[in-house]
Amino acid sequence: MEAELKFIGRIETPYNTIDECPRNVQHDGPECRLILSKEYLDGMLGLSEGQEILILYWFEKVNRDNLRQNSRRTGEYAGVFALRTPHRPNPIGASVTKIEKVEDGAIVVRGLDCLNNTLLIDIKPAMVAESINSDLLS
Ligand SMILES: C[S@@+](CC[C@H](N)C(=O)[O-])C[C@H]1O[C@@H](n2cnc3c(N)ncnc32)[C@H](O)[C@@H]1O
Repeated sequence: MEAELKFIGRIETPYNTIDECPRNVQHDGPECRLILSKEYLDGMLGLSEGQEILILYWFEKVNRDNLRQNSRRTGEYAGVFALRTPHRPNPIGASVTKIEKVEDGAIVVRGLDCLNNTLLIDIKPAMVAESINSDLLS
């Protein structure tokens, strides 16, 4: 089976090399911008400052075949699905963060952990663990 991704835009960050990138999202990090392509601007309706969103993005030029790796954080040798490594069969990054500002054609957030101009796959309202638990209880 084949699937087709449509990139909805790109992410502007201050990082131009992997070494400069934080290992994971930093909520007090520098401003980053999700720049949407013109054809997807209508999809921004309803997004607002302070809202928590899940951002999905695409890692380029990574190793997609290495199913066991050492964690950069703990050094532990583990399967790719137990790690947040960008080197994975489908190199998709996922971060939850808060919207700082909604601008014309862009969403400002803080501290993303990706290279400048990383391709943007999707944005969704975040569902945090608390609300998952209360859904299960209700
Ligand atoms: C460990 S991943 C975590 C990503 C996301 N927070 C997640 O949990 O899915 C973040 C790392 O991916 C690498 N990276 C960032 N942008 C990249 C890009 N555009 N292409 C390839 N690797 C990238 C950097 O080494 C960065 O520190």
